[in-house]
Amino acid sequence: MVADAGVQWHELDYHTLTQYSTAQTDLTLPIYPLKRRFRRRLLGWYDRNGRDLPWRKTRDPYRILVSEIMLQQTQVDRVMPKYEEWLERFPTFEALAKAPLRRAVQVWRPLGYNIRPRRLHAIAKHVVKYFDGRLPSDVETLKKFNGLGDYTVGAVQCFAFGKRAPIVDTNISRVLFRVFLGNGDRDKHAVKQHIWILSASLLPRKRFFDFNQALMDLGAMVCLARKPLCTKCPMRTICATYATNTKTLS
Ligand code: ADE
Repeated sequence: MVADAGVQWHELDYHTLTQYSTAQTDLTLPIYPLKRRFRRRLLGWYDRNGRDLPWRKTRDPYRILVSEIMLQQTQVDRVMPKYEEWLERFPTFEALAKAPLRRAVQVWRPLGYNIRPRRLHAIAKHVVKYFDGRLPSDVETLKKFNGLGDYTVGAVQCFAFGKRAPIVDTNISRVLFRVFLGNGDRDKHAVKQHIWILSASLLPRKRFFDFNQALMDLGAMVCLARKPLCTKCPMRTICATYATNTKTLS
């Protein structure tokens, strides 16, 4: 994951994670009580405010993969109807693999970025041919598919295969950066790496599925890029950015 190919952060203990992080940067991981507070507040907020989205009700690897590839560059509201339509037309890897590529591209078209249906179709063909129609669950194999980056591999591992895998997308990166770092350059490689380790170190042992979904919701609904809704944020009192910047973040 990220720079260290083959490292599975979620399988490392907290001590090792801390060493990784401080070896790459001068950044440290939060102490236990802070992590616990963050987890509790996030899950409590999610129980009250989380979005009811169709891909949160399934553990079918095909359905999860379709949703995550659709969501790579498209907003939730636009994905929802297309997700349902796609699954009606192509309900399994087999059905998609059998369909002509141009048909898949045509159904996808309103979402744009036509490379995505091509990649999904290629994955379906490969999965049917070599894996008996079942998506493999190990990181190394998943990473070899074109179009599956660190985020999507983590999401599939967590949401489809029930693994305690961290995820970081743009929304999650913004949330974790603001709450735990507050300043620095979020585009720097070492900071990106630290945020992945941070995400791994925060994952709870039990509700990691909900935790990862909740991080995305907090980023999409409250910790907005331009005008964050800090008064509605459960992290306000522990947020590094809010603490130093209460004027710009209202
Ligand atoms: N964006 C990417 N994956 C998502 C998910 N599972 N729920 C909401 N937004 C997402």
